Amino acid sequence: MSAEHPDDSRLEQAAATDDSLISAHDKASSGEPDTHAQYRLLPLALLFAFSGLIFVGGTYLNRYSGHFHGDIFDERQLPGSGEATVRTIDPVVLGQKQYNLACVTCHMPNGQGLPNVYPPLAGSEWVVGSEERVIKILTHGLKGPVTVMGNTYNVAAMPAFGQVPGGGYNWSDEKIAAVLTYVRQAWGNTAGPIDVAKVTEIRLAGADRKEWTEAELLEIQ
Ligand code: HEC
Repeated sequence: MSAEHPDDSRLEQAAATDDSLISAHDKASSGEPDTHAQYRLLPLALLFAFSGLIFVGGTYLNRYSGHFHGDIFDERQLPGSGEATVRTIDPVVLGQKQYNLACVTCHMPNGQGLPNVYPPLAGSEWVVGSEERVIKILTHGLKGPVTVMGNTYNVAAMPAFGQVPGGGYNWSDEKIAAVLTYVRQAWGNTAGPIDVAKVTEIRLAGADRKEWTEAELLEIQ
């Protein structure tokens, strides 16, 4: 057998004497470094560097990712000038939208109203006249006979649009100011805009009263 496999290490082990085994063990456990090892311990500095990167990266994402919410995070956002941009809504645009949502069913798209039922807003002395009167009509409503451009209307009531007790619409003062600003400059009307603060003031002064009457409104100068 040995003649056939002269290099087989198992044969060499089998033939080893106790002495040769002991000396081989001694050599292996002598603690001398294995100079043929192919790996090194990870330098501690590298561990700190990676930990630092993960920490900085995590903090950065936490702060600037918008948590990846679609409505906050916009990866296509271009860097701005650094100035805060305040979005301002044109009251005429908002007012037209509100008009088409709610007023249009009674006062019609052209502001002409419906003969004998819904009075016109185009050319109406109530619309282009006293700010206080028209604000009161919008916040608390109007009931009973009202004369508009020589015709008297007394079939239906004008609903309360303000945030008043019993009001079905609960529009904000901004929306009321906007719709009034819109109707005061639409269809040939040429009256000035209505201030939100003025709507708030007049709405609060009216408190929890019901619809105004023409007689009450005509007392306002
Ligand atoms: C449900 C129908 C209806 C809706 C909706 C309605 N109105 Fe009226 N409006 C009336 C009626 C009816 C009168 C007259 C009330 C009366 O006879 O006392 C009136 C009167 C008015 C008046 C005073 C009279 C005039 O013609 O100038 C103004 C101003 C007015 N409405 C504005 C508006 C605006 C602005 C909206 C929308 C925010 C609106 N109305 C929504 C029915 C409506």
